[in-house]
Amino acid sequence: MAAPEFTPRIATVAREAGALLMTYFDRRIGFEYKGDVDLVTEADRASEKMIVSRLRELWPGFDIVGEEGTRQENGSDWRWYVDPLDGTTNFAHGYPVFCVSIGLEYKGALHAGILYDPTRDELFSAERDCGATLNGKPIHVSTTKTLSESILATGFPSHKRHKNPNIHFYHQITLRSHGVRRAGSAALDLANVAAGRYDGFWEFNLNPWDTSAGVLIVQEAGGTVTRFDGSPFRIDSREILASNTVIHAELMHNFAEIFAGRGLEEIPSPVDYAKGREK
Ligand code: IPD
Ligand code: CA
Ligand code: CA
Repeated sequence: MAAPEFTPRIATVAREAGALLMTYFDRRIGFEYKGDVDLVTEADRASEKMIVSRLRELWPGFDIVGEEGTRQENGSDWRWYVDPLDGTTNFAHGYPVFCVSIGLEYKGALHAGILYDPTRDELFSAERDCGATLNGKPIHVSTTKTLSESILATGFPSHKRHKNPNIHFYHQITLRSHGVRRAGSAALDLANVAAGRYDGFWEFNLNPWDTSAGVLIVQEAGGTVTRFDGSPFRIDSREILASNTVIHAELMHNFAEIFAGRGLEEIPSPVDYAKGREK
Protein backbone atom coordinates (compact mmCIF):
# COMPACT_ATOMS: atom_id res chain seq x y z
CA MET A 1 0.00 0.00 0.00
CA ALA A 2 1.27 3.49 -0.88
CA ALA A 3 2.50 5.88 1.86
CA PRO A 4 0.28 8.91 2.51
CA GLU A 5 1.71 12.22 1.34
CA PHE A 6 -0.88 14.75 2.50
CA THR A 7 -2.73 13.34 5.50
CA PRO A 8 0.04 13.65 8.13
CA ARG A 9 0.13 17.42 7.58
CA ILE A 10 -3.64 17.84 7.20
CA ALA A 11 -4.06 15.92 10.46
CA THR A 12 -2.02 18.56 12.30
CA VAL A 13 -4.25 21.32 10.88
CA ALA A 14 -7.46 19.42 11.79
CA ARG A 15 -6.26 18.75 15.34
CA GLU A 16 -5.42 22.42 15.78
CA ALA A 17 -8.90 23.41 14.51
CA GLY A 18 -10.51 20.83 16.82
CA ALA A 19 -8.66 22.26 19.82
CA LEU A 20 -9.85 25.74 18.83
CA LEU A 21 -13.47 24.50 18.60
CA MET A 22 -13.23 23.04 22.11
CA THR A 23 -12.25 26.43 23.58
CA TYR A 24 -15.55 27.82 22.23
CA PHE A 25 -17.59 24.70 23.09
CA ASP A 26 -16.60 24.87 26.73
CA ARG A 27 -17.86 28.49 26.87
CA ARG A 28 -21.31 27.69 25.36
CA ILE A 29 -21.33 30.58 22.86
CA GLY A 30 -24.42 31.88 21.04
CA PHE A 31 -25.47 31.27 17.45
CA GLU A 32 -26.98 33.10 14.47
CA TYR A 33 -29.27 31.88 11.70
CA LYS A 34 -27.93 31.48 8.13
CA GLY A 35 -31.23 30.03 6.90
CA ASP A 36 -34.49 28.74 8.45
CA VAL A 37 -32.82 26.28 10.88
CA ASP A 38 -29.25 26.59 9.59
CA LEU A 39 -27.11 27.80 12.48
CA VAL A 40 -23.65 29.34 12.48
CA THR A 41 -21.42 30.36 15.38
CA GLU A 42 -18.27 32.37 15.95
CA ALA A 43 -16.51 29.00 16.27
CA ASP A 44 -17.39 27.96 12.68
CA ARG A 45 -15.83 31.17 11.36
CA ALA A 46 -12.73 31.08 13.57
CA SER A 47 -12.08 27.45 12.67
CA GLU A 48 -12.42 28.11 8.92
CA LYS A 49 -10.10 31.14 9.16
CA MET A 50 -7.46 29.08 10.94
CA ILE A 51 -7.71 26.07 8.60
CA VAL A 52 -7.63 28.20 5.45
CA SER A 53 -4.58 30.16 6.60
CA ARG A 54 -2.70 26.90 7.37
CA LEU A 55 -3.67 25.32 4.03
CA ARG A 56 -2.54 28.45 2.17
CA GLU A 57 0.84 28.37 3.94
CA LEU A 58 1.36 24.66 3.27
CA TRP A 59 -0.04 24.43 -0.30
CA PRO A 60 -0.16 27.98 -1.70
CA GLY A 61 -1.45 27.21 -5.22
CA PHE A 62 -4.38 24.93 -4.34
CA ASP A 63 -8.03 25.99 -4.72
CA ILE A 64 -10.09 26.16 -1.53
CA VAL A 65 -13.85 25.98 -0.93
CA GLY A 66 -14.96 26.54 2.67
CA GLU A 67 -18.52 26.30 3.96
CA GLU A 68 -18.34 29.68 5.68
CA GLY A 69 -17.51 31.55 2.49
CA THR A 70 -13.90 30.88 1.50
CA ARG A 71 -13.51 30.67 -2.28
CA GLN A 72 -9.93 30.58 -3.53
CA GLU A 73 -9.87 29.84 -7.26
CA ASN A 74 -6.35 29.46 -8.69
CA GLY A 75 -7.31 27.19 -11.56
CA SER A 76 -5.42 24.39 -9.80
CA ASP A 77 -6.05 20.65 -10.32
CA TRP A 78 -6.08 20.41 -6.51
CA ARG A 79 -8.96 21.65 -4.40
CA TRP A 80 -9.65 21.62 -0.67
CA TYR A 81 -13.15 21.31 0.75
CA VAL A 82 -13.35 22.58 4.31
CA ASP A 83 -16.18 22.09 6.79
CA PRO A 84 -14.73 23.89 9.80
CA LEU A 85 -17.44 22.52 12.11
CA ASP A 86 -19.75 19.72 10.98
CA GLY A 87 -22.55 19.42 13.53
CA THR A 88 -23.08 23.11 14.32
CA THR A 89 -26.58 22.55 15.71
CA ASN A 90 -25.21 20.00 18.18
CA PHE A 91 -22.32 22.32 19.03
CA ALA A 92 -24.63 25.31 19.62
CA HIS A 93 -26.78 23.25 22.01
CA GLY A 94 -23.84 21.77 23.91
CA TYR A 95 -24.34 18.24 22.50
CA PRO A 96 -20.84 16.82 21.98
CA VAL A 97 -21.14 15.33 18.47
CA PHE A 98 -19.27 17.38 15.88
CA CYS A 99 -16.04 17.37 13.93
CA VAL A 100 -13.69 19.15 11.55
CA SER A 101 -13.73 17.87 7.96
CA ILE A 102 -11.02 18.55 5.36
CA GLY A 103 -11.15 16.84 1.97
CA LEU A 104 -8.76 17.12 -0.97
CA GLU A 105 -9.75 16.59 -4.60
CA TYR A 106 -7.38 16.06 -7.55
CA LYS A 107 -8.78 16.56 -11.06
CA GLY A 108 -12.31 15.99 -9.80
CA ALA A 109 -11.53 12.79 -7.84
CA LEU A 110 -11.21 12.47 -4.07
CA HIS A 111 -7.59 12.17 -3.05
CA ALA A 112 -7.32 12.65 0.73
CA GLY A 113 -9.61 13.19 3.69
CA ILE A 114 -9.30 13.95 7.38
CA LEU A 115 -12.07 14.08 9.98
CA TYR A 116 -11.26 15.05 13.54
CA ASP A 117 -13.67 14.64 16.45
CA PRO A 118 -12.15 16.68 19.29
CA THR A 119 -14.68 15.46 21.88
CA ARG A 120 -13.36 11.88 21.59
CA ASP A 121 -9.92 12.71 20.27
CA GLU A 122 -10.62 10.55 17.20
CA LEU A 123 -8.83 11.28 13.95
CA PHE A 124 -10.11 9.47 10.85
CA SER A 125 -7.84 9.60 7.86
CA ALA A 126 -7.57 8.29 4.29
CA GLU A 127 -5.52 8.94 1.22
CA ARG A 128 -6.19 7.38 -2.21
CA ASP A 129 -4.90 3.75 -2.25
CA CYS A 130 -3.39 4.08 1.24
CA GLY A 131 -6.31 2.62 3.26
CA ALA A 132 -8.23 4.28 6.07
CA THR A 133 -7.16 4.73 9.67
CA LEU A 134 -8.54 5.81 13.03
CA ASN A 135 -5.86 7.32 15.27
CA GLY A 136 -3.25 5.64 13.08
CA LYS A 137 -4.77 2.13 13.16
CA PRO A 138 -6.34 0.59 10.02
CA ILE A 139 -10.14 0.50 9.99
CA HIS A 140 -12.58 -1.56 7.95
CA VAL A 141 -16.31 -1.46 7.32
CA SER A 142 -18.57 -3.99 9.07
CA THR A 143 -19.38 -7.48 7.79
CA THR A 144 -23.13 -7.32 8.52
CA LYS A 145 -24.92 -9.29 5.81
CA THR A 146 -28.51 -8.05 5.77
CA LEU A 147 -30.44 -4.84 6.21
CA SER A 148 -32.57 -6.47 8.91
CA GLU A 149 -29.43 -6.95 11.08
CA SER A 150 -28.03 -3.48 10.34
CA ILE A 151 -27.76 -0.22 12.21
CA LEU A 152 -27.77 2.85 9.98
CA ALA A 153 -27.62 6.64 10.15
CA THR A 154 -29.21 9.53 8.31
CA GLY A 155 -29.68 13.27 8.62
CA PHE A 156 -32.15 15.97 7.67
CA PRO A 157 -31.36 19.17 5.77
CA SER A 158 -31.29 22.53 7.49
CA HIS A 159 -32.84 24.26 4.43
CA LYS A 160 -36.39 23.58 3.22
CA ARG A 161 -36.91 20.62 5.56
CA HIS A 162 -40.65 20.65 4.79
CA LYS A 163 -39.93 19.88 1.15
CA ASN A 164 -37.78 16.87 1.96
CA PRO A 165 -39.15 13.29 1.95
CA ASN A 166 -36.48 11.76 4.19
CA ILE A 167 -38.83 11.23 7.14
CA HIS A 168 -40.52 8.50 5.02
CA PHE A 169 -37.18 6.76 4.45
CA TYR A 170 -36.36 7.15 8.15
CA HIS A 171 -39.69 5.53 8.98
CA GLN A 172 -39.40 2.64 6.50
CA ILE A 173 -35.73 1.81 7.11
CA THR A 174 -36.25 2.00 10.89
CA LEU A 175 -38.90 -0.72 10.61
CA ARG A 176 -36.65 -2.89 8.40
CA SER A 177 -33.41 -2.71 10.43
CA HIS A 178 -31.99 -2.60 13.96
CA GLY A 179 -32.51 1.14 13.82
CA VAL A 180 -31.56 4.46 12.28
CA ARG A 181 -29.57 7.07 14.21
CA ARG A 182 -29.72 10.81 13.53
CA ALA A 183 -26.68 12.13 15.38
CA GLY A 184 -26.33 15.47 13.54
CA SER A 185 -22.94 15.25 11.83
CA ALA A 186 -22.95 13.77 8.34
CA ALA A 187 -19.15 13.65 8.28
CA LEU A 188 -19.02 11.63 11.50
CA ASP A 189 -21.82 9.39 10.20
CA LEU A 190 -19.56 8.51 7.27
CA ALA A 191 -16.57 8.00 9.58
CA ASN A 192 -18.67 5.61 11.65
CA VAL A 193 -19.57 3.58 8.55
CA ALA A 194 -15.84 3.36 7.75
CA ALA A 195 -15.08 2.21 11.29
CA GLY A 196 -17.76 -0.53 11.15
CA ARG A 197 -19.93 1.15 13.81
CA TYR A 198 -22.76 1.79 11.34
CA ASP A 199 -23.57 -0.53 8.43
CA GLY A 200 -24.95 2.25 6.25
CA PHE A 201 -25.76 5.96 5.94
CA TRP A 202 -27.81 8.08 3.56
CA GLU A 203 -28.81 11.70 3.21
CA PHE A 204 -30.62 13.82 0.60
CA ASN A 205 -29.04 17.26 0.49
CA LEU A 206 -25.38 17.39 1.35
CA ASN A 207 -22.56 19.61 0.11
CA PRO A 208 -18.98 18.72 -0.89
CA TRP A 209 -17.61 20.03 2.42
CA ASP A 210 -19.87 17.55 4.29
CA THR A 211 -18.93 14.52 2.20
CA SER A 212 -15.48 14.93 0.58
CA ALA A 213 -13.38 13.57 3.45
CA GLY A 214 -15.88 10.99 4.73
CA VAL A 215 -16.62 9.42 1.34
CA LEU A 216 -12.96 8.66 0.69
CA ILE A 217 -12.55 7.30 4.23
CA VAL A 218 -15.50 4.92 3.65
CA GLN A 219 -14.16 3.83 0.25
CA GLU A 220 -10.65 3.25 1.57
CA ALA A 221 -12.14 1.23 4.46
CA GLY A 222 -13.78 -1.14 1.95
CA GLY A 223 -17.20 0.52 1.79
CA THR A 224 -19.33 1.56 -1.19
CA VAL A 225 -20.69 5.05 -1.84
CA THR A 226 -23.21 5.80 -4.61
CA ARG A 227 -26.31 7.84 -5.27
CA PHE A 228 -29.60 6.21 -4.22
CA ASP A 229 -30.00 4.46 -7.58
CA GLY A 230 -26.46 3.03 -7.54
CA SER A 231 -25.05 5.57 -10.00
CA PRO A 232 -21.57 6.82 -9.12
CA PHE A 233 -21.23 9.33 -6.32
CA ARG A 234 -19.50 12.50 -7.49
CA ILE A 235 -18.16 15.26 -5.29
CA ASP A 236 -21.07 17.52 -6.29
CA SER A 237 -23.73 14.81 -5.79
CA ARG A 238 -26.32 16.05 -3.33
CA GLU A 239 -27.66 12.59 -2.38
CA ILE A 240 -25.51 9.88 -0.89
CA LEU A 241 -25.90 6.20 0.00
CA ALA A 242 -22.93 4.69 1.82
CA SER A 243 -22.62 1.16 3.17
CA ASN A 244 -20.36 -1.70 4.14
CA THR A 245 -20.69 -2.90 0.47
CA VAL A 246 -22.34 -6.20 1.55
CA ILE A 247 -25.79 -4.63 2.10
CA HIS A 248 -25.51 -2.06 -0.70
CA ALA A 249 -27.64 -3.88 -3.28
CA GLU A 250 -30.33 -4.58 -0.67
CA LEU A 251 -30.33 -0.94 0.43
CA MET A 252 -30.62 0.28 -3.17
CA HIS A 253 -33.51 -2.13 -3.76
CA ASN A 254 -35.28 -0.83 -0.64
CA PHE A 255 -34.77 2.77 -1.77
CA ALA A 256 -36.20 1.99 -5.22
CA GLU A 257 -39.23 0.28 -3.64
CA ILE A 258 -39.86 3.16 -1.21
CA PHE A 259 -39.54 5.75 -4.02
CA ALA A 260 -42.10 3.69 -5.99
CA GLY A 261 -44.42 3.48 -2.96
CA ARG A 262 -44.31 -0.33 -2.95
CA GLY A 263 -44.36 -2.53 0.19
CA LEU A 264 -44.54 0.39 2.61
CA GLU A 265 -44.70 -0.67 6.28
CA GLU A 266 -47.66 0.90 8.08
CA ILE A 267 -47.76 2.49 11.51
CA PRO A 268 -50.92 3.65 13.32
CA SER A 269 -51.92 7.29 12.92
CA PRO A 270 -51.62 9.30 16.16
CA VAL A 271 -55.42 9.73 16.10
CA ASP A 272 -56.08 5.98 15.82
CA TYR A 273 -53.43 5.23 18.41
CA ALA A 274 -54.91 7.76 20.85
CA LYS A 275 -58.34 6.11 20.57
CA GLY A 276 -57.06 2.75 21.73
CA ARG A 277 -54.54 4.08 24.25
CA GLU A 278 -54.84 3.05 27.91
CA LYS A 279 -56.23 5.87 30.04
C1 IPD B 1 -24.99 19.47 8.81
C2 IPD B 1 -24.73 18.16 9.49
C3 IPD B 1 -26.02 17.37 9.63
C4 IPD B 1 -26.69 17.14 8.29
C5 IPD B 1 -26.94 18.47 7.60
C6 IPD B 1 -25.61 19.23 7.45
P1 IPD B 1 -23.38 21.55 9.46
O1 IPD B 1 -23.77 20.19 8.61
O2 IPD B 1 -23.80 17.38 8.79
O3 IPD B 1 -25.80 16.08 10.19
O4 IPD B 1 -27.90 16.47 8.50
O5 IPD B 1 -27.48 18.18 6.32
O6 IPD B 1 -25.88 20.48 6.84
O7 IPD B 1 -24.36 22.60 9.02
O8 IPD B 1 -23.50 21.21 10.91
O9 IPD B 1 -22.00 21.81 8.99
CA1 CA C 1 -21.60 20.17 7.41
CA1 CA D 1 -20.37 23.32 9.02
